[in-house]
Parts: sequence; structure tokens; C-alpha cells
Amino acid sequence: HRHVDKATPTLVAKTIDAGDFHAAIPDYQALGAYRADGGYAKLANLRGGGDWEAVQQMIAESGLRGLGGAGFPAGKKWGFVRGNPGPRYMAVNGDEGEPGTFKDRYYLERTPHLFLEGMLIAAWAVEAARIYLYMRDEYPAVLQILATEIAALEADGLIPPGYVELRRGAGAYICGEESAMIESIEGKRGIPRHRPPYVAQVGLFGQPTLVHNIETCHWIARIVREGPEILSGVEKNGRKGLRSYSVSGRVQNPGVHLLPAGSTILDVIAAAGGMIDGHTFKAYQPGGPSSGLLPASIDDVPLDFDTLQSLGTFIGSAAVVVLSDRDSPRAAALNMLRFFESESCGQCTPCRVGCEKAVKLMQADRWDQPLLEEVSQAMVDASICGLGQAAPNPIRLVMKHFPDEI
Ligand code: NAI
Ligand code: SF4
Repeated sequence: HRHVDKATPTLVAKTIDAGDFHAAIPDYQALGAYRADGGYAKLANLRGGGDWEAVQQMIAESGLRGLGGAGFPAGKKWGFVRGNPGPRYMAVNGDEGEPGTFKDRYYLERTPHLFLEGMLIAAWAVEAARIYLYMRDEYPAVLQILATEIAALEADGLIPPGYVELRRGAGAYICGEESAMIESIEGKRGIPRHRPPYVAQVGLFGQPTLVHNIETCHWIARIVREGPEILSGVEKNGRKGLRSYSVSGRVQNPGVHLLPAGSTILDVIAAAGGMIDGHTFKAYQPGGPSSGLLPASIDDVPLDFDTLQSLGTFIGSAAVVVLSDRDSPRAAALNMLRFFESESCGQCTPCRVGCEKAVKLMQADRWDQPLLEEVSQAMVDASICGLGQAAPNPIRLVMKHFPDEI
């Protein structure tokens, strides 16, 4: 029952008290500085009689898509949620559990109020009765910043006391899946629900719920404050917009690099200062372990939503990990499957058993490729949520691109 234990700690998720922390707080833009720079003026205007559909139109013009990784058109969700009778809720997904992804943390540790204003604009648009902010507990500085700044918003009268409830996760990757997150906020074991119905119809406490990722809210504020052109005006390789790539691995300057959405892996490596001396580029994870691995030879594809599908992968949350000739794609893929085995909620057999069998098969000297393919197909066809459906990607991509290693 290891899997059950993994998810159960969400039951202890609790509302945060600003006195709870012991983290080094970075130098971030606090409420006073943000307001001095015009912050919250747009929110006040909108609340004073703005047209939510005009804002939705602006978001659509910008091309903003959900930056948790799925890329669903951001403003479109507002219409779905508003189409259902209230009370409606908003739940913000700050669980950022995808290995290699740290962009949400990056923005929250610098400009938390861009996120908070974007969140409040979205909440205004769907007339949310309350907001639940589900944060990754492994980011203590972020938790403290948010607790402090939400209290400051209350003190300034920008939100009623208790309107935004900060909740801490408990380290279960699956609680980043939106319906598992909602179960966890409700105080239950964090396991994904079947869908439909989507959370826009039946979400928190059975009510219509808007779910946005942290970075999506950050861009909503920027679009409303600066105009949709900040995204739609950037064009490269036939793609529009910007992407916050979380870059790690064998590069000189790992970190978050904001680049045009049409950037290729070579652009991303160049922005990260190039390869570490003595390392030759060999492979890369384009967007988290569920995106698997691509070989260095595929170096001219824009790393954006929709562009990687024909290659059997996706950009997801843009967590790029660069591997060199000193790394083994085979070992990396095994590591990814071990992660999924550990993080599977265990609710459905194809994922729970499939991950475990795949790990065993991948530990053999020679991979039994037909059997691994059969396991992979069963997982894709019959798993309840994205974790089990995407977990075979590393297996399939290594079989396809690195046959000599297996
Ligand atoms: P999805 O495409 O099923 O859904 C995306 C969003 O659109 C959800 O909020 C969903 O409710 C909504 N939606 C989709 N169709 C809808 C409809 N017909 N009506 C109303 N709402 C609708 O994708 P999912 O499973 O939510 O996310 C998968 C992605 O999450 C992957 O691409 C992966 O990259 C990413 N991910 C990100 C992590 C992170 O740490 N940022 C961690 C793990 C995965
Ligand atoms: Fe749980 Fe895996 Fe099934 Fe998703 S696919 S519900 S993580 S067992």
C-alpha cells in the first residue's frame, strides 16, 4: 500500500500561517512597490464595471494557452465556467511537480503580485466566490511570500479576509493533476477523477471551478496591463508568443529562460550559455519526463504546443533537460519510469502495474521490445489520467531513437 501512503498526506494539507516558515526570502517586489508601478489599477477598473468578455477577447488575441503544460486556450475556460450556475470557485495549481520544471517558482520569487493580480482578474471574470491556492510545499520561500502578500492584500482592502485560501501540498506528484488537486483541497485522498464532467462543470465541492496554473495567471495580468501584443507580437519560425523554458542538465547556465515560442533546442541551449565544456549534446527531454527523450539530431523543431505531436511527444510545461555524450538515454528513461512507478496513485491497474512491469523489463540487459510495446499500449489505452497515459513515452522514444543502447 505504498501508493496509498503517498497520496494520503494531502489530508493534512492546512491553511498557512505566516509564522510557519524558516526560509531565506529572496528580494521580491512587494505590494507597495507593485502598486507604485500601477499594479492593481486594472483590477480596480474591471471590478468597477468592466466587461469580462472584452478581457476574454484580449486573452484570446494574445494567444495565451494554459502553461501548466496542456496548452488549453486560457480565456476559453472562463466561458465554460461561467456557463454553469454558481457558486463558482477558482483553484490555482501551484503544485509544479514536473521534474525539471521550476518556472512558477521563478516568477513567484520575483514578481508575486503579477501572479496575484492575474489570479484576481480571472476570479473576477468567472465571479469566483472563493479562491484556493494549492502550493507546492517544497517551496518554503514562495509559501512565505504568498502568505505575507495575501495578508497585505487583505489589509489594503483589495480582497476580503479569507477570500484567497493558501493550501500546502504534501509532495504527491499526482496532486498536480487538477481533479486530484481538487480532491486534496476537499480533504480527501488525492486521486484523479474520471472526466467528463470537466472541473469547469463539476469541480470543487461539486461546483463549477476555474483551474489555472501560476504562470498562466502571471501572463493574464501582463496582457491586461500591457496589451495582447506582448505575446502575439513575438513571432519566430511560424510560431507566436513566448515560453518560459526551465532549462537544466549539461548547460553552462541552467535556469528559466524566456524565449520566443518558436525556439528550437539549439536556441534554448544557446540561451543557456551553450553546453558545459567537454560535453557533446546527445539528447533532450523537451517537457518533463512524460515527454520522454528526443535525440540531438531533431534540432530544428519549434519547442511549442502542437509541434512535437508527430514525434510522439509534447512540450508540456517546457522543462528542458539537456543530456550529453556522458549520459545514458536508457538510464534516463529507466529513471523516469521509476519516478512514475513511485508517483502513480495506484487507482487503476494499467498504470499501477504497467509502471512496475516496465521498470522490471527496462532493468534487463536487453529490453524485450515487443513486450514493452504491449505494456505501453495498454497503459496508453486504459489509464484513467495523463500520468499513466504518458508514462510510456520515454520507453517508446528510447526504443525508436536509441536502439543501440537497449
Ligand atoms: P487536458 O488537455 O486534459 O486539460 C487541460 C485543461 O483544459 C484542464 O483544465 C481541463 O479541465 C480543461 N479542458 C480540456 N477539455 C475541456 C472541455 N472539453 N471542457 C472544459 N474544460 C476542458 O490536460 P491535463 O491532463 O489537465 O494536463 C496534462 C499536462 O500537464 C501535460 O501536458 C503535462 O505537461 C502537464 N503537467 C505539468 C506539470 C507541472 O508541474 N507543471 C506536472 C505534470 C504534468
Ligand atoms: Fe492513478 Fe496512474 Fe490511474 Fe492516473 S493513470 S489515476 S496516476 S493509477
